[in-house]
Amino acid sequence: MSCPLKRAPLLGSLLKQRGAGTQPQQQQSRLPTSSLCAFHHPKEALPAPPSSPPPPPHSLSALPGPTNWPLMGSLLDVLWKGGLKRQHETLADYHRKFGKIFRMKLGAFDSVHIGAPCLLEALYRKESAYPQRLEIKPWKAYRDYRDEGYGLLILEGKDWQRVRSAFQKKLMKPMEIVKLDVKINEVLEDFMQRVDVLCKPNGEIEDLYSELNKWSFESICLVLYGKRFGLLQEDVGDEGLNFIKDIKTMMSTFGMMMVTPVELHKSLNTKVWQAHTKAWDNIFKTAKYSIDSRLKKYSANPAEDFLCDIYFGSQLSKKELYAVITELQIAGVETTANSLLWALYNMSRNPPVQTKLLGEIQSVLPANKSPSAEDLKKMPYLKACLKESMRITPSVPFTTRTLDKETVLGDYVLPKGTVLMLKSHALGSNEEYFSDWSKFKPERWLQKNTINPFAHIPFGIGKRMCIGRRLAELQLQLALCLYFICRELPIAFQRR
Ligand code: HEM
Repeated sequence: MSCPLKRAPLLGSLLKQRGAGTQPQQQQSRLPTSSLCAFHHPKEALPAPPSSPPPPPHSLSALPGPTNWPLMGSLLDVLWKGGLKRQHETLADYHRKFGKIFRMKLGAFDSVHIGAPCLLEALYRKESAYPQRLEIKPWKAYRDYRDEGYGLLILEGKDWQRVRSAFQKKLMKPMEIVKLDVKINEVLEDFMQRVDVLCKPNGEIEDLYSELNKWSFESICLVLYGKRFGLLQEDVGDEGLNFIKDIKTMMSTFGMMMVTPVELHKSLNTKVWQAHTKAWDNIFKTAKYSIDSRLKKYSANPAEDFLCDIYFGSQLSKKELYAVITELQIAGVETTANSLLWALYNMSRNPPVQTKLLGEIQSVLPANKSPSAEDLKKMPYLKACLKESMRITPSVPFTTRTLDKETVLGDYVLPKGTVLMLKSHALGSNEEYFSDWSKFKPERWLQKNTINPFAHIPFGIGKRMCIGRRLAELQLQLALCLYFICRELPIAFQRR
């Protein structure tokens, strides 16, 4: 197979120009970290013995970090070490150099990087009722402009909590998610047939990355809208093609407005703003039409349908429903496709893992039977393979938090407004938490109580953790399982 290996750009690149504010002291939450772990710079002295009073926390400015040049911050260093595409590796190196917490500026963007389970656990225990991530201002600007609602990726405060709990009841409950296996398999079977058609006699598939994106797009759309867009067919219809094209345009135009003021783009009606707005208009048009049809179809028996059950059992407005579903779809496509791509890639480099996995699958599944969610319960090695792949190559290498109150983290007092980067990639590639970290060893997940749960956060952490996690895991497990049954042959990858 030959394909470019990628990371999901949306959640992994939500960087925005914002300084860490230094508000006056309001509410200070002191997190118990020094007692939990010895951290900071590896060479730093251990904390004082328990009898002596803890030393006062240091200020933000005392945090270690790469050289901070005027205006540029550490941008040149990051570019020099491999550029923005390799920044996850540079950041993991910074953790090795500066320890478990450090500060970095990229231009005007100031952030504090966290790469230690003990600090994440402390943060989690003191998490506020409505944790915040970095704002996606261009999305908010569009919704305000067109009077559309906000979805989970951009909602904040009590509204976020209300909407989240309406969806969480279904999306985070394993009992509910397993019911989707038939739908997921329907798309997977089409995908495997397409792979057979696309596979050249030498076993090569030209652009597996884009095929995987079509699969995850089709799969999430069937779950959310209850309909197929035909992306895996030979002749894709206009509706499907335009939908995917508009999402691509929306994604490729929002990055520019994250680093330059969106208000300026809007008031000058720049080309970027026009393209972004037009793309969102089309996305909402298709999403609304599909959601309305689904609600109409099941209005007499809403309990029979995944989406109708959520909607009719909640106090959500239609405007909110449209926004949440659209964002769920956008959040669920590239993240899932990239995770499957990485899993196949990691296994391609480890033939003994492939053999062992195939053995497990064949021991559970009779010949010619598609896997069900029930079958997956008997496949611990399959789950371990996915976990290991998400550790070593997470498709979302970090998530963010904006502190809504002054917080002491470790030995540092961080002001309200500080942006924290929570680094799944740096954690997964740290020898301290994963011995032989660069080796793909699914077996490590089968040993009991050896891995700190806060060292593995590919879906984030706490109340704002990925709401699609269970669905994504089911999709990935079924996909990997079916891929191995259908192809059986060793997978080999060629990086372009
Ligand atoms: C392997 C696939 C996926 C990965 C690696 C992934 C990863 C993440 C991460 C790291 C976050 C940020 C969590 C935090 O800040 O603590 C997140 C949030 C989110 N994800 Fe996923 N995700 C995946 C699949 C999905 C799917 C399939 C959906 C939709 C069904 C989805 C919907 C969302 C939403 C809506 C949020 C925001 C939740 C909130 O703020 O309340 N994700 N995801």
